[in-house]
Amino acid sequence: MARFVQAMIQEQRSFGRICRVTLHAPELTAGVRAGHYLLMRCADPVSADPLLRRAIFVAGVDTDAGTLMLLYAPRERGMVWLARQPAGTPLDLFGPLGTPFTLDNRTRTLLLIGVGEGVGALFLLAQAALRQNAAVVLLTAAPAADLLPPPFLLPPAVEYRGSDAGESSIADLLYGETPPENQATATSELIAWADQIGATVPPDLLTILVSAVRATRLRRQRGFAQVALPGAMPCGTGACLACLIETRHGLRTRCKDGPVFDLRDLPAG
Ligand code: FES
Repeated sequence: MARFVQAMIQEQRSFGRICRVTLHAPELTAGVRAGHYLLMRCADPVSADPLLRRAIFVAGVDTDAGTLMLLYAPRERGMVWLARQPAGTPLDLFGPLGTPFTLDNRTRTLLLIGVGEGVGALFLLAQAALRQNAAVVLLTAAPAADLLPPPFLLPPAVEYRGSDAGESSIADLLYGETPPENQATATSELIAWADQIGATVPPDLLTILVSAVRATRLRRQRGFAQVALPGAMPCGTGACLACLIETRHGLRTRCKDGPVFDLRDLPAG
């Protein structure tokens, strides 16, 4: 059940151009699952600029310490404001929100594919999978090494494969030795290996994932591949209709019906 909470920044760290903030928010830790996000007010108390809350995935939870961990890149005004706030700053949060990932308790091999701002959601999914003794591989790609999510923030049991050759180089990680000119019709050993896939990619890269899954798994059961779609979700409740997306079942809100969708429900899926 989402609620308004006053959290406190416990620690801010940056790793290249990726930042990690640890928040003391014991009221929120019990109900958070992978794929849930928070709406954060990112302005000084006397300011309304920026006006809209920022949506940010939860990347880690420590229920004993009562803390949440968030990963972000300070690329726009709200996140730039957050990056400037020191430990001890109170933060106004609303959450947890959204429809999270569904991890099948029979899953023994989990493939994570993370590009862009939503990758924090996959950190929490990796932790959940390790708790049920699944093998976890994370593929990630960015335009520069200092924009890759830091591997040392993941549990060591996660196999991390990162590429700094651009976001679209996620295809090379998916297809291994297959040359780019043959990838459009190729199968992916990693997708064949996985019991489930959790992903977050920008819309323009969704087709890479879709064609790899289609070519590799001719029969795809519901829940096999799930995708978290990040982006602006200013109200978080389905009220403002600012985050509508087209699905196979008509228009849906990312903020409430998602942000995690079954790949089969997306138009390209
Ligand atoms: S953010 Fe308002 S409907 Fe989704």
